[in-house]
Amino acid sequence: MYVFLFLYVIINNMNYEDILKSDYFNETYKKIEELKKDFYVNHGFIHINGVIKNAKYLADIFCLNQKQKDLLLIASALHDVGYMLGRENHASNGGKLVYEFLKDKMVEEDVNLICRAIACHGGKKEDDFLCPISLCLILADKLDFTKERYKDDGKEHENLPLFKSIEKVILTKEKNNNFRLKIYTTNKELFKNLNNNYYFEKLFEVFRKLKNVYSYEIKVDFIEFKSVN
Ligand SMILES: [Fe+2]
Ligand SMILES: [Fe+2]
Repeated sequence: MYVFLFLYVIINNMNYEDILKSDYFNETYKKIEELKKDFYVNHGFIHINGVIKNAKYLADIFCLNQKQKDLLLIASALHDVGYMLGRENHASNGGKLVYEFLKDKMVEEDVNLICRAIACHGGKKEDDFLCPISLCLILADKLDFTKERYKDDGKEHENLPLFKSIEKVILTKEKNNNFRLKIYTTNKELFKNLNNNYYFEKLFEVFRKLKNVYSYEIKVDFIEFKSVN
């Protein structure tokens, strides 16, 4: 009886910090960094840390309870492991890989919530936003576009100067269902025309879905960033 109780407590106490220390996490993202080393955007440790940081404040903004927040942080840490099998379908592949990794380590219900959030972190369908854990993971991932994530020595890309100018990205909740996304940039000019910008079109598409599902209104401000020096 006590042995089972002890195992239950161990199994349910797993948190994202345990994941970050695991060989699975470190070896998997090391391989993904190697696979994507010539790409101009980081999909390894820098990105995962960015997504975890975003997930922490989004969990508060969207009023997740402690349990949901814990699951969101685990999902954030593991959300891109599907890149091991290539970019195509990396979200759904990630859900399957993470299920195999977690199934003996956590209770089934929690594993399912984490894997479902990972499998739909692209936010392609409106249904993907219904679970608050999934909603926060989609946004935490999409909002990780500050300059740290973009490589100086990466393959040249037309978006590189634009992203390298972004110092901070902050989502704040205003009254009722209104939100404001503040993007601090050292060069506001670069954001004058975002038509045909693939990344921002995807981001605005996510905002449209949030409006359809929850009536959330998200306004975007591009703010000139001034260094204190
Ligand atoms: Fe992803
Ligand atoms: Fe990601």
